[in-house]
Amino acid sequence: MAKAKFGSRIGLIAATVGSAVGLGNVWRFPAETQSNGGAAFLLIYVVCVFILGIPLMLAEFSLGRGSGTDAIGTFKVLRPGTKWWLAGALGVLASYLILTYYMVVAGWTTEYFFQSLTGSLYDGLQPGADAYNKLDSTFHARMENYVCSAWNPLINTFVMIGINIAVLIGGVQKGIERVSTWLMPLLFMLLITFCCVSLSMPGAAKGIDFFLHPDFSRIDGTVIVSALGQAFFSLSLGMGCLITYGSYFPKSTKLVQTALTVSMLDLLVAFLMGLIIFPAIFSFGLDQAELRGSTLVFVTLPEVFSQMPATRLWSTLFFLLLMVAALTSTISMAEISISFLQDRYHRSRKAATLIVLLPLFVLSSVCSLSFGPLADFKIAGMTIFNFLDNISTNYMLPLGALLTSIFIGWFAPKGFFRKELTPSLGKDKPIYGVIEFLVKWIAPPLILIILINSLIANP
Ligand code: PHE
Repeated sequence: MAKAKFGSRIGLIAATVGSAVGLGNVWRFPAETQSNGGAAFLLIYVVCVFILGIPLMLAEFSLGRGSGTDAIGTFKVLRPGTKWWLAGALGVLASYLILTYYMVVAGWTTEYFFQSLTGSLYDGLQPGADAYNKLDSTFHARMENYVCSAWNPLINTFVMIGINIAVLIGGVQKGIERVSTWLMPLLFMLLITFCCVSLSMPGAAKGIDFFLHPDFSRIDGTVIVSALGQAFFSLSLGMGCLITYGSYFPKSTKLVQTALTVSMLDLLVAFLMGLIIFPAIFSFGLDQAELRGSTLVFVTLPEVFSQMPATRLWSTLFFLLLMVAALTSTISMAEISISFLQDRYHRSRKAATLIVLLPLFVLSSVCSLSFGPLADFKIAGMTIFNFLDNISTNYMLPLGALLTSIFIGWFAPKGFFRKELTPSLGKDKPIYGVIEFLVKWIAPPLILIILINSLIANP
């Protein structure tokens, strides 16, 4: 069977941006920015995207396109008979673990979408004089009730798994590419609408100041480590996802331009999210101490919506945006394992999709239940959900990225990387030298420092 490829340039970009833009941008980025001091974090984040993110993205694209096969197969094709395939295996495992818990949060977005649509999220609210405190505790309690209950979150997780199966069975062009080509423009339209609304709010300037005016004294080791982790997560790096998508790129795809487009759009979404969330929150007088990291979008934003006219409309559109972002990312994570089963074990598309996604009905359920009935079951002192998040994002992703950069910088066949990059800009452009230098000499030690830092910070 001929290897599947993306059918058009727009589709290829939409699918790859769809993978990159996800809860990482919409949910994790504002939370990380907020807890790491605002603009200072943003600044370091942008630097990380440029000096590590883009070169590593190019490394993954090249590996996939050059070898024409899945995340594990790539290493077998380029370095047969060695143990390098284990680097790919680490990626496949990491992506599956992340998918397991990401699906649960994706399920929350569907619940919040439906509750906004029906209005039940806002039922019975009576904000009084001290509206914020009351509302904050109301939405907090609502979220906690929901997340910790047994059945409700499971049903939503199942809905998300079902949608994933429906899309993925369609294959690369008719499933992933088609859905992304529809959903990505929708996502950008929603984002821009929200941006206009948020920036026109009376107190927007204070929020913008927090987001864009750096306080350099806030920059320390933790800020740098978090910014780098966030950059990898957000750009879908370190787990073979972009190797897999790269294997669907036709030979004519210009990798440098594609990597720049994808990473700039990903950055833009994160940036727009900051422009949406911080002005909205500051306009409603919530000061910094009251902003809450990971509950920002599920607690603080409903609170903001409840103060705005057309509450349900804005809330429904916002959670639709979140759902779309989550869906295209879960699809890309599942695709890593599906492509592995298709390329290595010659499974049909349908069989591979089911083998990958059906077990999630059990595994993601366990993750979801770890908020409620299984909350006391701890691994290394963490709930199952937190444990998976922690080992995959803090250790497996950086390790995957480290191995990828060492491989492409030092072990891939001579001239391989340059050959994949060349059609992008024509021969002998100094930029190739810069990219190669970053991948070979800068990425490995920097990532290593970050890994060690993670180990020391939370052993
Ligand atoms: N980049 C996605 C996000 O920001 C998450 C993701 C990571 C998707 C790795 C695929 C692979 O949410």
